[in-house]
Amino acid sequence: MAFDFVDQLKSSVDIVAVVGEYVRLKKAGASPRWVGLCPFHTEKSPSFGVHSTRQFYKCFGCGAAGDVLKFVMEIEGLSFYEALKALAERHGIPMPKRHEYSDPESRLRASVGDLQELAAKQFRENLAGPKGAEARAYLQRRGVTPQVAEEFMLGYSEGGGQQLARLFEKQGVPRDQLEKSGLVMARQEGGGWFDRFRNRLMFPIHGETGKVIAFAGRALGDDNPKYLNSPETPIYQKSHVLYNLHRAKAEARKLDFTILVEGYMDVIGVSAAGIRGVVASCGTALTNQQVRMLKRHSEKVIVNFDPDNAGAGATERSIQLFIEEGMRIRVLELDGGLDPDEYVKERGASSYRDRLMHSKGYFHWLADRARTRFDMRDSDGRMQAFKWLLPNVQRVGEKLERLAVVNDIAFQLGVEPGPVLEQFRKAAVDRKTAEMRPENRETQVTDAERTLLRLLLSEEDVRESLGPHLASLGQLERLATRRILETIGAMIQGGGRFSYGDLEARLDEAGRKLLGLLTWSEEDPARHRSALPSVEQAANAWRDLNALGQKADRARLRARIREATSAGRHEEALSLIAELDGQGPE
Ligand code: GTP
Ligand code: MN
Repeated sequence: MAFDFVDQLKSSVDIVAVVGEYVRLKKAGASPRWVGLCPFHTEKSPSFGVHSTRQFYKCFGCGAAGDVLKFVMEIEGLSFYEALKALAERHGIPMPKRHEYSDPESRLRASVGDLQELAAKQFRENLAGPKGAEARAYLQRRGVTPQVAEEFMLGYSEGGGQQLARLFEKQGVPRDQLEKSGLVMARQEGGGWFDRFRNRLMFPIHGETGKVIAFAGRALGDDNPKYLNSPETPIYQKSHVLYNLHRAKAEARKLDFTILVEGYMDVIGVSAAGIRGVVASCGTALTNQQVRMLKRHSEKVIVNFDPDNAGAGATERSIQLFIEEGMRIRVLELDGGLDPDEYVKERGASSYRDRLMHSKGYFHWLADRARTRFDMRDSDGRMQAFKWLLPNVQRVGEKLERLAVVNDIAFQLGVEPGPVLEQFRKAAVDRKTAEMRPENRETQVTDAERTLLRLLLSEEDVRESLGPHLASLGQLERLATRRILETIGAMIQGGGRFSYGDLEARLDEAGRKLLGLLTWSEEDPARHRSALPSVEQAANAWRDLNALGQKADRARLRARIREATSAGRHEEALSLIAELDGQGPE
């Protein structure tokens, strides 16, 4: 029966339309093929195709391929059942009963999703009702009309801290769902639950398909924190979400640019002014996952962060990420110290639009930053400014474009092109060496490290038992994989769902390379061989790492003893010897 339904669904949806909601596709001439940039890997020219008669997609770059269900599973990170359900819902096709073939994890995620919808509804009722008076007055003070509040589904969480807890308990929501919802928290004493959000203006955060997956709550006064966010839950990973993307994407595609701002209120202010292609990251530094999400809808982005130092720093970092993904970037820095929301309100929508259209290419913006940092009156200062800019040039993927940019800066900074190009060649060589580094580092990775990493990535029970203790691995500092292991540890401590993509998103470029090299090579000696349970294998690897580290410690101590002895520092030598003895036998 399930299979009948799958066939029925597949025959009533068009893969071109479904994929087209996520990827900009162009028809390839008269053939039944549509092409676009692959959403599953980074590329600058399209190698991703969707076949409308065969109802099939394939990427010739990375090999991703499948039918419409596979596509939705991959792009949304859903299980088979969830993808089926999502597609059926979107096309108004009734589903056969849920429990027949859903796994426990999908069921938990579905319930956690239902709880968010329930909460969103309650919050909105609160805002409209008598207890919402203060929040309504706040919105009015900030120039948010009731229509706009409705459009963004804003709400209000009661101050008593009992409302959702009671509602959920009355409905008999099981404990694990309550715990994972991120909406209520267990009391320390006496049992029972209380609401996470109290007396706050509530902003629902939606996934790309438009379902509520989390909340941000803003204090109405000067309470700390100003914004309180949902924790990571089975359906919410903040590094994978952009606030307002589900509403902004249509406009972003039409205009081929997206505006990226810092805050929720900025999104609302700009959007209310009629400029709808605007998104924000949810209070975290931008990740390359988020950049890839943007790139699926537009090739250009205008970064419009707050005009303060933090905003400028965040702009610099985001520029690097956008360049790495091959997007085109403009930067809008508003005058008068105004953030986008304030600017629209004080100067009006048309003035903001005008500023958008005159935003600078990122390079001009960076060059302006350099000018304020260095003394441009002498040639030393100009060269320093140039060196500061260089790392950004190097991220430009195409060689010709890179050279053009170099000439451009030379001109802008008033530097002789000769020495500039010389510097540039030298930096290009350094870059080659830097790119080599992960490979070099890979060879320094011990077998035990490889095994540990592989098990952490693939085995849930290993993550559960070792994850929380990773930070206390005595040898961590010395390991080539330190950043990767630390990041895994932090993710597990954070309590969110672990995924390879998320890990990748949190690493820097070198870390990602190293991770890629290690996970794709077949050199793990313990692979296929060991009959031990995985947790035990991991514990052995851990022990080996500790032993190796202790050996290194002792070697270092001995060297210091030799040095102290030959320099005649006998007391020091004696105390070092005592230390060595204290470490016990080898
Ligand atoms: P308003 O102050 O209401 O105008 O908010 P804003 O959206 O302009 O926020 P602001 O520029 O102060 O901060 C930008 C973004 O950073 C916010 O939208 C939040 O996502 C995040 N943020 C700011 N303060 C906090 C905080 O105290 N905690 C958390 N978790 N995030 C915050
Ligand atoms: Mn603001």
